[in-house]
Amino acid sequence: MLEIEISGLRLRNPTMLASGVMGECSGSLIRAYRSGAGAVVTKSIGLEPREGYPNPTAVEIECGILNSMGLPNPGIDEFGEEMREVVELEIPVIGSIFAGDAESFSILAKRMQGYGACAIELNLSCPHARGYGLEIGTDPDLVRGIVKEVKRSVSIPVFSKISANVADIVEIGKAVEEGGGDGIVAINSVKAMKIDLSTKKPILFNRFGGYSGRGIKPIGVRCVYELASEIEIPIIGAGGVEKGEDAIEYILAGAKAVQVGSAIFYRGIDVFRKICKEMEEWMERNGYSSIEDFRGLALK
Ligand SMILES: Cc1cc2nc3c(=O)[nH]c(=O)nc-3n(C[C@H](O)[C@H](O)[C@H](O)COP(=O)(O)O)c2cc1C
Repeated sequence: MLEIEISGLRLRNPTMLASGVMGECSGSLIRAYRSGAGAVVTKSIGLEPREGYPNPTAVEIECGILNSMGLPNPGIDEFGEEMREVVELEIPVIGSIFAGDAESFSILAKRMQGYGACAIELNLSCPHARGYGLEIGTDPDLVRGIVKEVKRSVSIPVFSKISANVADIVEIGKAVEEGGGDGIVAINSVKAMKIDLSTKKPILFNRFGGYSGRGIKPIGVRCVYELASEIEIPIIGAGGVEKGEDAIEYILAGAKAVQVGSAIFYRGIDVFRKICKEMEEWMERNGYSSIEDFRGLALK
């Protein structure tokens, strides 16, 4: 009932573990898959190992989480071992990568493909790492060039994860499409800040962070709706998916699949199985037998 096909990938259901939330080692990727995720996305990996920012890097705020990890990761060389253990179990694993230019993105994408990733996710949207993510993902020319270059380098599908922190998300979505991208993930966490009333200073070491969880769902749904109205390539919705109904909302807005991150903190790793069960119950109540039966209905 929940199986989907996205850019040639067949998945048992439309839920995916979102990048960075538990995706840094093989054990947690395997656990997320065994807990019902249709696919898992790795933490964003760069060319070199990176420590990330000092603490505090995450804080719970109203309706979600504010984090500024600073893209800590072991680097692409080290990550091969983690990938091997996941790929051996035939788990669909999407390799998320970040870089500052098209050439570095291409090198990383080739390495991820070599490790057995079923697709690549380009992080063009991290809101808190200088020189990466959002700083390049807001320029349509850069985005088009990066996607084009990566597409030339690998044969697996290439998804681009984009941000809501732009004046016109459709312009960025179109740049991905023009570059030959196979899909869009929308959205990454939203740039935000929390100030501590006792110290009178921003709580996070990096001052700004990315807001994720329930509070950003309406922003994510709006972005998916706008993108699905104007572009043809598949969209994977992300931002505040906690329950089956949240996933359904994204699919009604035109998404083919959804990613789940912060909800793991609230509902446990089993959240994937719970969301799928709730989706099936909703579909049964509404007389739908497949995701495609109701996908994009809000757009009509
Ligand atoms: C602690 C934490 C770390 C994250 N790290 C990454 C990352 O490395 N790469 C990335 O593309 N997104 C990262 N994200 C963003 C999530 O993948 C997701 O897009 C965002 O949290 C919105 O989904 P959610 O509301 O379900 O958490 C991170 C989010 C959190 C909370």
